[in-house]
Amino acid sequence: MYSLPAGYPQDAFAVFAFLKDKKTLDTEDFIVLALVESVGELFYQTLARGLDNAEARSLIERNAAEERGHAHRMLKALRLRGGGEFELPAIENNPFFALAPKEVPVSTDLFGVLETAETDGDAQYQRWADGEPNAEVAQLLRLNGVEETRHCERVQQVKALLEAA
Ligand SMILES: [Fe+2]
Ligand SMILES: [Fe+2]
Repeated sequence: MYSLPAGYPQDAFAVFAFLKDKKTLDTEDFIVLALVESVGELFYQTLARGLDNAEARSLIERNAAEERGHAHRMLKALRLRGGGEFELPAIENNPFFALAPKEVPVSTDLFGVLETAETDGDAQYQRWADGEPNAEVAQLLRLNGVEETRHCERVQQVKALLEAA
């Protein structure tokens, strides 16, 4: 199993806050972000499984699929920065798996938390892109960011769908 570098939080949700003040990401940070995004996929898959509304479930499944795409973009960024190859481990071997919830019950609070996390995630990716010396890597960071805002919008759509049901 890949061990997190010293000092990193064990909780995927805490990693963005931990890296908040970092102007330029290190190659190690790209690996950790890929692992966080991979657990993001699992999180949305778990949430989707608990939804009865088919439209809501499909919106959340799209978020899940895009989080996986984000993980792969970070591995591409790692290569572009000369950090070599890293293969995503099976999800059970992801260091953030232990604290990932096994069930995600729907609540107003949950939607609020996700809206904030996704919106903050976009802002964070744009800041990292601003500090990124490699233009191609900066573009990958920006794409992840833009999609985090889209995730927030899908969460809002799901909230509206479930409220109307
Ligand atoms: Fe993401
Ligand atoms: Fe997201």
